[in-house]
Amino acid sequence: MADFKIAPSILSADFARLGEEVVNVINSGADIVHFDVMDNHYVPNLTIGPLVCEALRKHGIKADIDVHLMVKPVDRIIPDFAKAGATYITFHPEASEHIDRTIGLIKESGCKAGLVFNPATPLDVLEYTLPKLDMVLLMSVNPGFGGQKFIPYVLDKARKVRQMIKAGGYNCRLEIDGGVGPANIKEVAEAGVDTFVAGSAIFGAAKASDPNRYDTVLKAMRDELAKAKI
Ligand code: DX5
Ligand code: ZN
Repeated sequence: MADFKIAPSILSADFARLGEEVVNVINSGADIVHFDVMDNHYVPNLTIGPLVCEALRKHGIKADIDVHLMVKPVDRIIPDFAKAGATYITFHPEASEHIDRTIGLIKESGCKAGLVFNPATPLDVLEYTLPKLDMVLLMSVNPGFGGQKFIPYVLDKARKVRQMIKAGGYNCRLEIDGGVGPANIKEVAEAGVDTFVAGSAIFGAAKASDPNRYDTVLKAMRDELAKAKI
């Protein structure tokens, strides 16, 4: 089977118990912590910053942390997230004046670098950046909020990016973010995606009384992935 990874978006977790939520979801078999950073400027919402990333590391979280920057400007905050324990740092090309420099900054700070494309943003910058990237993240909703509906035309985009990664023989993950859950994860995998962000589908499945409450939904997602024809 392909090297599929599931990345719960903590945007939909209970922030009052964030450490416990992340421990539970990792113990239930999730692979990567997806960490949504919003600035009320690039996107119309405000979330969490480097202090919270550092707090998760201090809480003992060893899993990769995938920092999705929905901020403008981008560069100033990169070293802070690197120090705070980020594994991946991804940013939206339209939020940086100098895309190559921003990718360089992420790499120099010791993190893996990724570019994020909104649903209607063309992929043209990949022509020159793909060889340097560790991750391409395709937004399948408009960024800013959890719990939105999956935009199906992004599947075509995924097929295009998978083709580009394959053609160049690059070692680059292809991630999707927004509206993903057990009902559509198979179709998304068949379009070439290998890394799946899911917020409301995972954290919304919680039952306060059940400490292993994420096992069922993660298993449902893995069972669907096992059926994917790729
Ligand atoms: C949206 C964020 C997503 C969000 C996904 O701007 O980037 O990571 O949490 O949430 P769901 O899975 O609920 O669509
Ligand atoms: Zn995200």
